[in-house]
Amino acid sequence: MRPFEYHNPVRIVFGAGAFKRLGDEAAAIGNKPLLVSYADEPELTKSLQRGVQQLVDRGMQVTTFFQVQPNPDVQMVERGVELARDIAADYVIGIGGGSVMDTAKAIAAGVEYQGGDLWSMVNSRHDQDQVVPPQTALPTLMVPTLAATGSEMNNCAVLSHRERGEKSYIWSDCLFPQTAILDPRLTYTLPSLQTACGGVDTISHVMEIYLNGQDQSDLLHAWQEGLMRTVIENLPAALADPRDRHAREELMWCASCAINGWASPGDPWTPMHQIGHVLTARHQVNHATSLALVMPAWMDFFKTIKPERYFRLARRVLQVDPHRRTREQIIDEGIDAFRQFIEQAGLPTRLSQVGITHDDLGPILDDVRRISFNARGQLTCNPPVTEQQLTTILEKAL
Ligand SMILES: [Fe+2]
Repeated sequence: MRPFEYHNPVRIVFGAGAFKRLGDEAAAIGNKPLLVSYADEPELTKSLQRGVQQLVDRGMQVTTFFQVQPNPDVQMVERGVELARDIAADYVIGIGGGSVMDTAKAIAAGVEYQGGDLWSMVNSRHDQDQVVPPQTALPTLMVPTLAATGSEMNNCAVLSHRERGEKSYIWSDCLFPQTAILDPRLTYTLPSLQTACGGVDTISHVMEIYLNGQDQSDLLHAWQEGLMRTVIENLPAALADPRDRHAREELMWCASCAINGWASPGDPWTPMHQIGHVLTARHQVNHATSLALVMPAWMDFFKTIKPERYFRLARRVLQVDPHRRTREQIIDEGIDAFRQFIEQAGLPTRLSQVGITHDDLGPILDDVRRISFNARGQLTCNPPVTEQQLTTILEKAL
């Protein structure tokens, strides 16, 4: 195993019906919360009303900031920071999906930020010297309503800068939520596309590390394989019956565990996400779709460079029958099965399906190079990816 340090202080309250614990859990943190959620998400209205009522019943002074849009923009976060300062909020609650939780984190850090412009917090430039991560933040309490980004249990937030056309991460231990309430019932009313996107995003978080991380850890690989298999088995069940409690529970805990550090000790790289963020910023595809467009082509390129890993993926995760098949056929069937899994969930797997053409590849590559390449001119992972290789992968993805 690669040496690693690990720390995760998030208190988890999990289970169907756990949302009714919001008042108790919030009271343990403070008395004057800023409650963050979406600008327009009708299926969440009842949950938000229930949440506000619990806080009011506890005698709290609740102020709402329901202005979050998908792919939260730094200017929107600035408005949230201003409001949190005006009301002297003592903590921030996020009720929603990844965009809401990341906004809540960014506001909590922004209130105390001393590094100048809020965009300075974001790892979105080649010259890392310009990045000034936040050191402190208000406490946060998260209630995910979508099993996807895992933001409820990690120290990361993703922000966009519309004018710069960039989307990237803030990393800091001050972003760990204090508490996360995980109630699978809150996901019963999700539109099926959002459920599918959440499942694909969850599996991508593990697959990034499984395919592009370290090579030698029995426990780590078994844990990663179990997570990916659990999503593959339960996403179709949740799509077929949105109130399948078992499937919703499994998907919700998988989402948290996929990116809370357990599946990636010592492996912080997310190269497929780096490409996906550029696709989102330049072509407005949603986050999970941006990954669905990249992953099969990425696998098809690396299958001959890391054949053992792709063989193991095919056998242990995608459960390809090895009978009367060569290793190469088993690997290819595994990749085909994964592409089918994504497509059956309703997401596209080729850039051309979302209108991206060969002419668009140059600008996409330019942005990946500008935002995410390391000082050696590569995308960091194992093995590192050169610009030439990246070009080939994107061409395969068309
Ligand atoms: Fe993701």
